[in-house]
Amino acid sequence: MKQLTISKIKEGTVIDHINAGKALLVLKILGIHSNSTETVSMAMNVPSKKMGKKDIVKVEGKFINEEQLNKIALIAPNATINLIKDYEIQKKFKVVLPEFIEGIIKCPNRNCISNSDEPITSKFRVWFDKNVVAQCYYCRRKVKEISEYIY
Ligand code: CTP
Ligand code: ZN
Repeated sequence: MKQLTISKIKEGTVIDHINAGKALLVLKILGIHSNSTETVSMAMNVPSKKMGKKDIVKVEGKFINEEQLNKIALIAPNATINLIKDYEIQKKFKVVLPEFIEGIIKCPNRNCISNSDEPITSKFRVWFDKNVVAQCYYCRRKVKEISEYIY
């Protein structure tokens, strides 16, 4: 079988099985932008047996935190995280969709109390129904295109 190769990395994080088209958002979540100095490689719309098409992101020398993991789960619920040391996979796990998120996405309802002058942090219940759905704890508004509302 023909295999697409992006170089293996020595140390860092590989985020695999990202929903096709979401790699750039994953980079944003990781804080990687045009002035970043990290060594980063990525592939978009790569053929995948499980997913049809997928994206992959590899970042050298960087390990991701809980908040970044939660954000990635919201936009790429099938993603696999591989932590690499000395070219070996030390840990492999799937992201887990959090049941509740606080302060991670902005409510799309402009009149929601979480968008008012009150010091109220946004809060959503999250579940999977063909796509990831988040519902505001305060105004019950549902967010379907979550990536547009991530802070
Ligand atoms: N990888 C890497 N650098 C390494 C080791 C692995 O970039 N030193 C990458 C591989 O290219 C692959 C991912 O990490 O994209 C997972 O590697 P591996 O578990 O070997 O591949 P698969 O068996 O295809 O993974 P899965 O079962 O999760 O689909
Ligand atoms: Zn709301």
